[in-house]
Amino acid sequence: MTKNMSDAASDAITHITEDDIFIDKIAALDSALEKAYKPFMRVDNTLNRKIVSFQANKTLPFYRWYKYKEGFSAHLVEHYIRRRGVDATKKLLDPFAGSGATLFCASDLGIDSLGIELLPIGRRIIKARRLLQHFSSDDFETLIQWKNKKPWIEHQGQTDFTVLKITGGAYSQENSGLIKKFLSCMQKENENVQNVLLLALFCILESISFTRKDGQYLRWDQRSGRCWGATPFNKGEIQNFNDAIPEKLEEIISDVKGESESGLFNFLTPVVRKGELSIIGGSCLRELPRLDNNSIDLVITSPPYCNRYDYTRTYALELAMLGVDETKLLKLRQEMLSCTVENREKNLLGLNPAWIAPLSICNNHELLRQILK
Ligand SMILES: C[S@@+](CC[C@H](N)C(=O)[O-])C[C@H]1O[C@@H](n2cnc3c(N)ncnc32)[C@H](O)[C@@H]1O
Repeated sequence: MTKNMSDAASDAITHITEDDIFIDKIAALDSALEKAYKPFMRVDNTLNRKIVSFQANKTLPFYRWYKYKEGFSAHLVEHYIRRRGVDATKKLLDPFAGSGATLFCASDLGIDSLGIELLPIGRRIIKARRLLQHFSSDDFETLIQWKNKKPWIEHQGQTDFTVLKITGGAYSQENSGLIKKFLSCMQKENENVQNVLLLALFCILESISFTRKDGQYLRWDQRSGRCWGATPFNKGEIQNFNDAIPEKLEEIISDVKGESESGLFNFLTPVVRKGELSIIGGSCLRELPRLDNNSIDLVITSPPYCNRYDYTRTYALELAMLGVDETKLLKLRQEMLSCTVENREKNLLGLNPAWIAPLSICNNHELLRQILK
């Protein structure tokens, strides 16, 4: 061994940092925890990767319109409801409702459901989908005209939309101008049609922008001029607004008409009555203690995980289009359950004194304490 090599080897041995000791301790506690819980875990071989992720929704009518990447697969929700043998007399809750996969699935099975969701984008998707269930034939015809005639192209007016620090420069000048014309032109329609046109707009924002939703944030294409980092990123085709909107409207129209060619339209057994579906806007930390006792029979949910994922960044284009400004964005970020460094600790006991027992379990949990440390 040369002198340099042996120096390097001894450096590697002696440089055990405090972090390494923490990591070792965490690893040991983690494996002890896994061992303790192993007897309670069960492998369900009837589930596969496609069914447990959003992937399966990509071809599913209604669910395919808006890519809520963290969304439940409708098949998974159906699987759990059926396995539990839940009947239509029960009420289901999803306190982290997202774009509403749990709620719509329950409703299709005749079960009443209640959702709570903090981000306005998920709630707007849910609202527009619900509206479409009761669309009049006139409103439907108007949508078809928008798809075929593209009235925004000849329209003269423009309506500005909010631009946030993290969304500036997201669209080409051409696409940005077309969005403004579209927003102005839709004002001549009634509220129902406007809501569905907005839904179509939300559904295409990513594909007509220089960005891609990527884990913790929006990733910028090199053509935006906002690209940093060692490796330039090219997201591939960036759609023109005038192509993207009619395509999305076509998808919506054909799904609502039940003429989708995917063949999956009737994936849920038809039931006579659809379950009532309601959604509360705001933080579930605040809203859950306000629910009546014994008003819920079943909870199916997928909370935000302990990682650095920040929904307000990933969905920034949509939030800006909904008029969320920097102040509102910050407020949403603080209310969100997340593990980002920007988030503040929440006064949970102030929200609900009855949470003392679960909180003390968390506070005394050694693995959690070591990780936080
Ligand atoms: C993993 S996603 C759930 C997706 C959902 N299962 C679906 O199918 O669309 C978690 C959701 O929790 C929401 N969320 C985060 N903090 C929240 C809070 N304090 N109150 C209510 N919802 C919150 C996020 O906006 C996100 O939509």
